[in-house]
Amino acid sequence: MKELLKEKLATYQSRVESGLSEFLPPPTARPEQLHKAMRYSIEAGGKRIRPVLLLATSELFGFPDNALPAAVAIECLHTYTLIHDDLPSLDDSDLRRGRPSCHAKFDEATAILAGDALLTFAFQLISREYRDQPVLAGNLIGDLAEASGSEQLIGGQMEDILNEGHPIDADTLRYIHENKTAALLTAALKMGLRFCDPNKEQISLVETVGLNLGLSFQIVDDILDATSDAQSLGKPAGNDAAAEKSTYVSLYGIDQARTIARAHTESAIQAAKEIGGDIDFIVSLIADLESRIN
Ligand code: IPE
Ligand code: IPE
Ligand code: MG
Ligand code: MG
Ligand code: MG
Repeated sequence: MKELLKEKLATYQSRVESGLSEFLPPPTARPEQLHKAMRYSIEAGGKRIRPVLLLATSELFGFPDNALPAAVAIECLHTYTLIHDDLPSLDDSDLRRGRPSCHAKFDEATAILAGDALLTFAFQLISREYRDQPVLAGNLIGDLAEASGSEQLIGGQMEDILNEGHPIDADTLRYIHENKTAALLTAALKMGLRFCDPNKEQISLVETVGLNLGLSFQIVDDILDATSDAQSLGKPAGNDAAAEKSTYVSLYGIDQARTIARAHTESAIQAAKEIGGDIDFIVSLIADLESRIN
């Protein structure tokens, strides 16, 4: 990524950090344990890809000054999925974002409730902050709810868990990746675009970008799980094989998985370029995510 775009990424990330700290309920709110746990998992950091994509997309054709609450909302929702994904009954993972996972730091009940609260807070924040723009609020809530519901993100998580311990076919694996990961990345782009009064064609293009970026993103996540280490990842490595999950690595091997990820990245970039506007940052972010190390 060129120096100027790196600066742009850092600027978006720092807007997201300020927004999170501003909008989340304070750690002193009652019950303190719950609000501390919510902030614990949020403040552990992470790449903030979804809120950054949302902000960058919102600025494709101008500079709306009110996209930050939507960006904060999608990061809260994403963080809830990570807290629940790590629970003993799901991926049973004790390390997240370089810290003990929420249930390891607090306890399982607190982690379940902190996840529940972050999920609900995402929608509360959007409905509160966009009260004066009911059409925008409705679209943002609809995009986020559709992506995170039982027929997308949670559906993907369900099939991910149901298919542990036995080999699966390529279609099932694609269903899982499309839903557990690509759906929310698509929502980030679509929600950002809502600030630009998009036409149908632009919405359909961001769906293509999100799908391909999401598939590439999750394939790379699978590759990193198989090839990297906890120190670099900030989460355990080797978890997928230990849980006998099918992944692009187990189905295709590392080299072919890498080739497939690259092809999806290429398709994402091609579709992104058709959206128009100030797309350079988004294109180079998509390209960089393919060679990321965590
Ligand atoms: C992790 O998401 C879960 C997947 C969908 C692979 P990220 O890789 O975006 O995690 P953070 O937010 O940077 O911690
Ligand atoms: C997680 O996929 C996707 C969601 C959390 C919705 P993974 O289980 O592969 O994510 P990591 O590797 O734990 O971050
Ligand atoms: Mg998982
Ligand atoms: Mg996991
Ligand atoms: Mg993973």
